[in-house]
Amino acid sequence: MKKQSWEFEYEIYDDISQLTGDDATLLNQARLVTGKAYAPYSKFNVGAAARLENGELILGTNQENASYPVGICAERVLLGTAATLHPEIAITAMAVSFNTSKEKSNHPISPCGMCRQSLLEYETRFKKPIRLIMGGMEGKIFIVQAARQLLPFAFTSEELIK
Ligand code: THU
Repeated sequence: MKKQSWEFEYEIYDDISQLTGDDATLLNQARLVTGKAYAPYSKFNVGAAARLENGELILGTNQENASYPVGICAERVLLGTAATLHPEIAITAMAVSFNTSKEKSNHPISPCGMCRQSLLEYETRFKKPIRLIMGGMEGKIFIVQAARQLLPFAFTSEELIK
């Protein structure tokens, strides 16, 4: 019997003033676009902003539905939009933020499991890691260098394309 472990590094920043200009811009866009979320059921507004390799920014927000499981997370709305507008251009970074009347938005949130799977597919498809910048409307920010790092033992296309 052997044991192995899974480790990943992430960066922790006290607030947005410690980020590089590009990362701060992306997080600010994610914060701003939370205002366009459609989340009347959870009242948990999520905003995502991504930078493409050509420098263009793409935004996404969560879109809920009266039939709850039909709702879509901000990250997957963004990925679908990016891949439709620019099917040949990779995403290099994505910022995610949230806003809600229920609690103070002063800490990072990280993508749900389904979004991690979608992010991994996108990284694989474009052969490029997506840096994830996770923060609330204020306060601490986490950065991981690739979405892949958040999904150990992932199911990938390698199992299907043989
Ligand atoms: N949500 C996102 O949009 N992204 C996440 O990473 C986590 C959750 C949305 C889904 C739902 O509309 C609301 O937040 C509450 O779960």
